[in-house]
Amino acid sequence: MPSKTEETFVNHLLAQMSLEEKLGQLNQVNPGSEFDPSVLREGKAGSLINASGALTGQGFSDSGSAELSNHFQKLALEARLKIPLLFGRDVIHGFRTVFPIPLAQAAAFDPDLAGQAASIAAREATASGIKWTFAPMLDIARDPRWGRVAEGNGEDPFLASQMARAVVKGFQGDDLSAPEKLIACAKHYVGYGAAEGGRDYENGEISEPTLRDVYLPPFHAAVKAGAGTLMSAFIDLNGIPATANRRLLTDVLRGEWGFDGFVVSDWESVKELIHHGVAEDEAHAACLALQAGLDMDMVSGVYLNTLGESLRQGKISMEEIDEAVRRILRIKHRAGLFDQPFTDPLRARRDLLTPEARNLARQFARQSMVLLKNDRDLLPLQGFRRILVAGPFVHARGELFGTWTPDGRTEDVTPLDEALRQTAPKDVELWFAEATDLALHLAHHADAVVLLLGEHPVRSGENCNVSDLGLPPGQAEFVQAMAALGKPLVLVVFAGRPLAITQQVSLADAVLYAWHPGIEGGAALGEILFGVEAPSGRLPITFPRATGQVPIYYNQKNSGRPVHPEGQFKTRYLDLPPSPLFPFGFGLTYTRFEYSNLRLSSDTLRGTLEISAEITNIGARPGAEVVQLYIRDLVGSLTRPIRELKGFQRVTLQPGESRCVSFTLREEDLAFTRADGTFGVEPGKFHVWVAPDSVSGLRGEFRL
Ligand code: BGC
Repeated sequence: MPSKTEETFVNHLLAQMSLEEKLGQLNQVNPGSEFDPSVLREGKAGSLINASGALTGQGFSDSGSAELSNHFQKLALEARLKIPLLFGRDVIHGFRTVFPIPLAQAAAFDPDLAGQAASIAAREATASGIKWTFAPMLDIARDPRWGRVAEGNGEDPFLASQMARAVVKGFQGDDLSAPEKLIACAKHYVGYGAAEGGRDYENGEISEPTLRDVYLPPFHAAVKAGAGTLMSAFIDLNGIPATANRRLLTDVLRGEWGFDGFVVSDWESVKELIHHGVAEDEAHAACLALQAGLDMDMVSGVYLNTLGESLRQGKISMEEIDEAVRRILRIKHRAGLFDQPFTDPLRARRDLLTPEARNLARQFARQSMVLLKNDRDLLPLQGFRRILVAGPFVHARGELFGTWTPDGRTEDVTPLDEALRQTAPKDVELWFAEATDLALHLAHHADAVVLLLGEHPVRSGENCNVSDLGLPPGQAEFVQAMAALGKPLVLVVFAGRPLAITQQVSLADAVLYAWHPGIEGGAALGEILFGVEAPSGRLPITFPRATGQVPIYYNQKNSGRPVHPEGQFKTRYLDLPPSPLFPFGFGLTYTRFEYSNLRLSSDTLRGTLEISAEITNIGARPGAEVVQLYIRDLVGSLTRPIRELKGFQRVTLQPGESRCVSFTLREEDLAFTRADGTFGVEPGKFHVWVAPDSVSGLRGEFRL
């Protein structure tokens, strides 16, 4: 809710604004090579995107981002009404301190950690003159061919909602006007992950119940956490481009959820309404978007250039323009820009890449790596004197960053080989080989082999889709040749998506999924390989056995002909087992856990229900387990998912230690979009699991 002083301030300012000044506020400009700074003095820009040395080529030095923003801000404040500019930039998984990619962050199943990382990113970005980030990306993704799966939290609405809340809070804190806080932008609203065939920018269709129960919840969580802004998606969803969807941008977002911030388009997505075939020309596109509830036009310029004429022709009203301006001014006011439009250039030296930030990046990288296989406890590597480390990532530095890291610097990263050398025990000899031939030659003399494989970051991210989820060309053959030598074989896979590595998993003794782990990825990997730390990540997305198995996700419906009565996986292919390669929630560590003593506080849920189980570390090493709570609503007016995640907790246990882990399930946790379109619960029987992943665990039953 806007406060009274905020609204008084905003309305007072609005009352003094000319039409041109209002349209200027709705206009976001990219200060690229053809940028004419006089637009700032004339009040024709409300926001600048990417305003830092890294992208504008202005040659400003390190702290120059703040200086550059200040320089632009000074020009903007020369305009008649002195309305400060809002500087926006893609601060997606860190700024100078690059954290693991968002998909990896989700794998840590630790929203608090994600919140701390967001808070560090906010401090670094604001020190560099940025006050607004285009994150978090909250698109549910069920198709890993889509390159942007790397930028989100995977397939599950519950996990994604927890992450949304934590990250928004981390960026924004409780007071957006604090100098080290950053305005969040939940994107891409909504349904962007449903692009057909995993082809970015493609159209998609999502049924209303699935939209409500799967795709919208993370955005709702972000709004509830106070996200200042949202970004509309490029997608044409069910025939209406998201940028012109009044029902979603206004009725749901403002009407149902009470959002009072502003919505920015995606890059030129207002103008793209012409390509979508819903607008005749730029003027028409601008009217459609504005009237749908889209407040700021990202760089296409069509609001600035056409809305004035459309107003004169009576196609839109001044009230519609005013409302959009009001929302933008409100967020600028809330962010303290009117009082503090400038950034202290000295902050950058103090706030960038601190030891605390690096430590967190390392912890996050460790927690996000997922151990998928570990036959005969090959990992951690022990008792091997000569270890060959081979493959395309051997000398990786910037390659560890992943997609969307315009502010990460290669020179800040310890090369992977060096990082491994630093973490290996003194009596271990490490040999490195990037080239396949050399690696195969050296392997003959090694006691064990670690292959560092996977995708280069440019293979995931925006519009980096693949039709084949296998390893990049040549790598499968490399694994096969290496496996044929019969040495103990560890695969470490770097990737921005789940890869269908079925054959490689069967050939290797151990497989560790490292994603793109960020600036401290090398050290984190070394610590895990050599047993200084144990892996504890869990899959935030289902791993298919083959590309043709996509879409495959754990919260599927049962179908009329499920594979077996428990209905873990329905229907089939003739040439593949029905189960995925690895299910959602799965991940091993260096010890084992036993689940016992499932208890429900009652056989009927009235208001709340307590569910607990005892988790025991039955191995010889300490370890962390992500204990997961799932439910199944057995009968509904609409068919229900075979499992839905409703809670998770990380517990660390010493060998032999037991802990009772308990969850509270509330009646509202069972609500869904019912056959009549309303949202609520339905009485009946439910299954509940306390589980290590989405296909196993202890099962109980209760009624509502
Ligand atoms: C992407 C957005 C991003 C924007 C600004 C677009 O192409 O889809 O995610 O925030 O560019 O860089």
